[in-house]
Parts: sequence; structure tokens; C-alpha cells
Amino acid sequence: MSASNANGSAARLALITGGLGGLGTEICRQLAQAGCRVIAADLPASDARLAGFREACATFGDAIGYAALDVSDHEACATLVGRLEREHGGVDILVNAAGITRDASLRKMTPAQWHELMRVNLDGVFNTSQAVVEGMTRRGFGRIVNISSVNGQTGQFGQTNYSAAKAGVHGFTMALARETARKGVTVNTVSPGYCDTPMVAAVPAEIRAQIVAGIPVGRLGQPADIARAVRFLAADDAGYLTGVNLPVNGGYFMSF
Ligand code: CAA
Repeated sequence: MSASNANGSAARLALITGGLGGLGTEICRQLAQAGCRVIAADLPASDARLAGFREACATFGDAIGYAALDVSDHEACATLVGRLEREHGGVDILVNAAGITRDASLRKMTPAQWHELMRVNLDGVFNTSQAVVEGMTRRGFGRIVNISSVNGQTGQFGQTNYSAAKAGVHGFTMALARETARKGVTVNTVSPGYCDTPMVAAVPAEIRAQIVAGIPVGRLGQPADIARAVRFLAADDAGYLTGVNLPVNGGYFMSF
């Protein structure tokens, strides 16, 4: 475990929800690379999934740990953060990368598909952020990075639930950024485009091919493309960047 960061101060503790996922694993790796101690929080995982994660993170030794967490459970989020505060002194960086899809056109979408997604993709951001914000403001330092999506900016066929939640995530970011700005706590959004992850691999091949054809850079994003944006916003010297949405989508959606 690295005891200090590049500036020689105590290593920041970073909590990454969805930490075992397609983007989450790479975010854990890049923050460890930046000198953080990292806790990957994710649903209870099979031995095989955990072994795969540990292998992907082997270079970083025990700088990257794992904690079981269901982000839709408000009390569980508070309990985990309380434990991390006792054991490590507090969470300095929170990356909300836990997310699911429940794609269906609105006319076919069940209330369960709507609510399951909202509980993870939007309630989850509330639950974890509320758990860390008190400690961060008290200590005068914090970085919260919420993973949204290009589909929150553009809307996507079959994703009224996902697009609504992801647009909501950035509204949450901007509101919380105002609440914490004077306390050394920044809150930002990263909006990935279509990336080379299991979530995107699950999109029907024909639709995926059409999407890739519309990406100016000409390829899916790599998890590393997203993780480097998170790392940038999570850095100690990124204190003047707050309430920002940073799109990382290969030019798929351009706007002011
Ligand atoms: N665009 C336009 N029209 C579409 C369409 C699309 N993507 N998909 C289906 N349709 C049309 C069909 O051609 C059909 O038209 P007709 O009725 O005229 O024949 C009609 O809509 C069918 O509608 P259904 O409600 O029956 O749709 P379905 O059940 O066949 O499929 C779906 C709906 C499952 C959502 C499917 O469109 C789909 O999988 N879309 C991809 C959704 C997607 O991109 N998800 C992204 C997941 S990855 C992610 O979210 C990560 C990230 O952040 C970027």
C-alpha cells in the first residue's frame, strides 16, 4: 500500500462504487496509480469475479481493497463509510460508478424496470454522497465524481429510465457542488459515451454497429479513456473545477 501520494502527504482514500465493473476496475487502477488507497465497493461477488478483479489489480498489491455494498441501501452506505472513517480516517474521493441498464421502450417498460434502475443509478448517488459529505466538509477536502452518460445528454431509444437517471445525476452534481464549494469539496460529472464494457456488449449487435458508425473517433471508448478523466477531476490540484460535466465520448455528442 502506498503510504503517501506524489506530494508526500498521506494517501487519499478513494471509494469507487461499481468498482468491479467495466469502468470501475480501471478507475480503481488509475487512482491507485495516482497514489490513492482504493476501496472497490460492489455487490457481493462470486469467487471467480473477485479473483478476476484481484488479478486485474495485482500490480497494486493491497492498495486496492474490496467491500461488498448495495448502493441502493441507504443504511449500508452509511455503515460502510462509517467503518472506513474509523479504519482509515475518512473517504477523500468518492466515485459513483455503479450503474445498471433495464432497456425497454416506454410502452413495454415495467414499473420494476423503472424503479430498479432508479434505485441504483440515482438513489445510489444520493446514498453514498450523503454518507461521505459530512466528513469531507469537516475535513475541508473532498472529490466526488459521478459517472453519468452521453445518453443522459441526448436520450436514447429504449432508455427513458436510464436517460432520466443519468440526466438527474448531473443535476445532483450541480446542486451539491454549490452546497460544498466553500468547504474544499468539488462535485463533478463524467459522461462516458459508448465504451468497450460488458454493458455495451449487451446491446444488440446491429444497434451497436450503428452506434459505433456514428462515433467520430471511430471506435468504442476504452475504460482507460474514462478513468483518466476521473483521475483528473479527483486530483488534489483540481479544486477550481466544480459542477462540471466532462463528456468523454469520442465526439459522439458535441455541444457547448
Ligand atoms: N432506434 C429507432 N427505432 C428503433 C430502435 C432504435 N434504437 N429500436 C427499435 N426501434 C423500432 C423498431 O424498428 C420497431 O419499429 P416498427 O414498430 O416500425 O417495426 C419498433 O421501434 C420496436 O419497438 P419495440 O418497443 O418493440 O422495441 P424492441 O423491444 O424491439 O427493442 C430495445 C427496444 C430493446 C430498447 C432496443 O431498441 C435496444 O436494445 N436498443 C439499444 C438501447 C441502447 O443503446 N442501450 C444502451 C446500453 S449501454 C449504455 O447505456 C451505456 C452508456 O451509458 C452509453
